[in-house]
Amino acid sequence: MNYSSSISFFFFIILLVQLISISSATYNEQDQNKKSPLDVDLPVGDIGLDDSFASSEILQSDEWPSSSYYHRRCPNKNVEKIINKKVKEWVDKDYKIAPSLLRLHYHDCAVRGCDGSILLNNEGSERRANVSKTLRGFEMIDDIKAELEKECPETVSCADILAAAARDATVLLGGEYWDVPFGRKDGRVSIGKEADIVPMGHDNVTTLLEFFQSMGLEVSDLVILSGAHTIGRTSCAQVQDRIYNYKGTGKPDPSINEKYLNFLQRRCRWASEDAELDAETPWKFDNMYYKNLQNGLGLLPTDQLLLSDKRTEPIAKALASMPSFLYGQIFGASMKKFGKVNVLSGDEGEIRTNCNFVNSHSY
Ligand code: HEM
Repeated sequence: MNYSSSISFFFFIILLVQLISISSATYNEQDQNKKSPLDVDLPVGDIGLDDSFASSEILQSDEWPSSSYYHRRCPNKNVEKIINKKVKEWVDKDYKIAPSLLRLHYHDCAVRGCDGSILLNNEGSERRANVSKTLRGFEMIDDIKAELEKECPETVSCADILAAAARDATVLLGGEYWDVPFGRKDGRVSIGKEADIVPMGHDNVTTLLEFFQSMGLEVSDLVILSGAHTIGRTSCAQVQDRIYNYKGTGKPDPSINEKYLNFLQRRCRWASEDAELDAETPWKFDNMYYKNLQNGLGLLPTDQLLLSDKRTEPIAKALASMPSFLYGQIFGASMKKFGKVNVLSGDEGEIRTNCNFVNSHSY
């Protein structure tokens, strides 16, 4: 075994150990909350919850972060089920919307924390920033919000809707279920300039690491969460320099696989075109992203870089070598952690009635 494969093996073992502890915790919670939202296995407390159950079980875990947060606030309705049904309807109509939701949740949490600030649609907001131009899925969130306002007015935050919808969308493309704790409040502030710090694929690994560290995340989270690029697409504008004029050389990035380069140069003649981020299985949530990196099939410059930095390479290789479902579980655990970044709770935020605007009484 050479140096690099021993390191990969080492990380593989570490990830496995982490996974075993995570999954035992998750399974315990899921004994109550059941497995997949897609099978519509409902969380026990959501179905005709009786008072004795509510007082003993719910009240202990009534505040953020808690999976049962809406049980008492929205009795007799299953908030997660309502969200899941809507996501399924939208994804059934157009599966390409699923990755967009995951990305929307990422962009929400990456600026000011998971507070729904990306959804605010006013002059100068994050949503109007340059980096947000290709974000999609806002209408789906509005649709879910409208439904929840009918079922349970002024109760479910836009930030929570986004977190649950992103999870459900990922599962619909084959990802593993993760438990989403609820109780995020919606922020009242959204500043476009702040969104400019979100990396768009031309950063070095140190910048990416610093960005993730600023959110309380680790090197492993950067590598694990980047695997979200196993689904979805990028606009060609993000990769044209890499395939035609790498670092101003007038030539393509030499690390791109030759056949792939040929394909990309035809596919991405126009900046306004799209290309799938995972060339092999673009609409399936698996660990192909990491296998692709090993074959020179990474698309964004930052994706391919994960394999050429000593801090990230062993983790990327370990993730490439495990079964997809294991990666899916590791991804879910990291998303659960990510979904707690700088969350507003209690009076720090509000429950918006329309995800596009702050409530008028807060002016
Ligand atoms: C590590 C730093 C990251 C960088 C530099 C990055 C960059 C990008 C870029 C440039 C795009 C294409 C945008 C366009 O079409 O113009 C994209 C798409 C996407 N990103 Fe990331 N991203 C990062 C992390 C993440 C994370 C952490 C997630 C989720 C957990 C994520 C999920 C996605 C998804 C699912 C898409 C496809 C969206 C769609 O099909 O609509 N990204 N990303």
